[in-house]
Amino acid sequence: MDKIVSLAKRRGFIYPGSEIYGGLKGTWDYGPLGSELKFNIKQEWWKTMVKDRDDVVGMSASILMNPKVWEASGHIAGFSDPLIECKTCHQRFKADQKDVIAEHEGWHKERKEKIDWTEEKQFNLMVEAKLGVVEGEKETVYLRGEITQGVHVNFKNVLNSSRLKIPFGIAQIGKAFRNEITPGNFTYRSIEFEQMELQYYVKPDEKESMKHYEFWKNFRMDWYKSLGINPDNLRFREHKKDELAHYAKVAWDIEYNAPFGWKECEGIHHRGDWDLSQHQKFSGQDMFYFDEETKEKYIPWVIETSGGVDRAALFFLIDAYSEEEDPAKNGASRIVLKLNPKLAPYKAAVFPLLANKPELVKLARNIYDDLRKDFAVAWDDRGNIGKRYYSQDEIGTPYCITVDFDSLEQGDVTVRDRDTMKQERIKITELNKFLNEKLS
Ligand code: GAP
Repeated sequence: MDKIVSLAKRRGFIYPGSEIYGGLKGTWDYGPLGSELKFNIKQEWWKTMVKDRDDVVGMSASILMNPKVWEASGHIAGFSDPLIECKTCHQRFKADQKDVIAEHEGWHKERKEKIDWTEEKQFNLMVEAKLGVVEGEKETVYLRGEITQGVHVNFKNVLNSSRLKIPFGIAQIGKAFRNEITPGNFTYRSIEFEQMELQYYVKPDEKESMKHYEFWKNFRMDWYKSLGINPDNLRFREHKKDELAHYAKVAWDIEYNAPFGWKECEGIHHRGDWDLSQHQKFSGQDMFYFDEETKEKYIPWVIETSGGVDRAALFFLIDAYSEEEDPAKNGASRIVLKLNPKLAPYKAAVFPLLANKPELVKLARNIYDDLRKDFAVAWDDRGNIGKRYYSQDEIGTPYCITVDFDSLEQGDVTVRDRDTMKQERIKITELNKFLNEKLS
């Protein structure tokens, strides 16, 4: 993890939030490469979940919502973690994190200090904000604890403004906020994070809903695999009855084998009619669906897939990180991020072999400007070619394109593959097609 955290900072993927002021625990800022990576993850998700399907539409709801939404959704009453406090040093812990608690007890014991805990208390995770201009009259609102409710409160709006028929889904990507008791493991548990979710509305029928549940569970697992995560590092885990969130009938996590243990990457939840029934009850608005064909009227059930963009970014980074021998450097090691080209911040880097030869720089610049119209491409003319390869390997650029003297004569360039380190000559006019094929 130390290596990943250091690379992430050094190369501009992820920085600690507001670092020059000493930071703010549990917040992270994405740099030039991190924001490209996150953007690519979201784009791939949107393509698979929305664009490629005719039963799913997208939406983007506001972060701030009428506080009644959170009463109805159960987040004010039930969205909490059990908390205990160490009476010796007043640090707080999630009561269900047994391994962390044991480690803390060990720490005190080593110092021959007494260890004692407070009773378990429920700690609400919703982050509050104040709205209004007059002191004393400000209204308490909440930063959304999940992006989900913005979709459910718009169920009827989307239905009435589209021609969707059940089963159908509404997808959304956006920020969520939680007062986490123990933010940590780099970006894994943050206070502010992004979610990518699908709310899929189905008939209220046990067999039918479980059919959709199984479909989405496998579909989501396949998405991570298709983007290059080693299948051995992924597994499903079912939530036990006492772990289920207040809205869930059934829940399975997709977990990733992180350096800090098997950890949740995404949850697939059977939410039953919880959300729509609650909003119907609290708002007084009709949330029924009318099936024109069968003339049935019902409150649909919901199958949800809920993934974290930041967790996906972290796990893609961890899984892609490798250190291997570089024969070109007499067996010295190279660091390479073997990111799927679709996720890589840059798809290619263009170099002139020598930076002091204007004819090479000119041709390389032309290629760079041309490719940039269609792809994220980096430019590098510093140091020697070996150093430039090393630098691009470390940030996961799949192809390095070098313009040399033969390029001037023959109209071709050397393209070096990040993973195999093999080089081939490709016509300049074929470069666009080459990259398109590799990215498709
Ligand atoms: N709408 C359902 C829901 O929010 P969740 O299991 O609480 O379910 C879904 O969260 C996903 O959001 C998680 O699998 C994780 O990827 C991400 N997530 C949740 N809390 C997070 C946190 N504190 N920091 C980063 N990501 C988080």
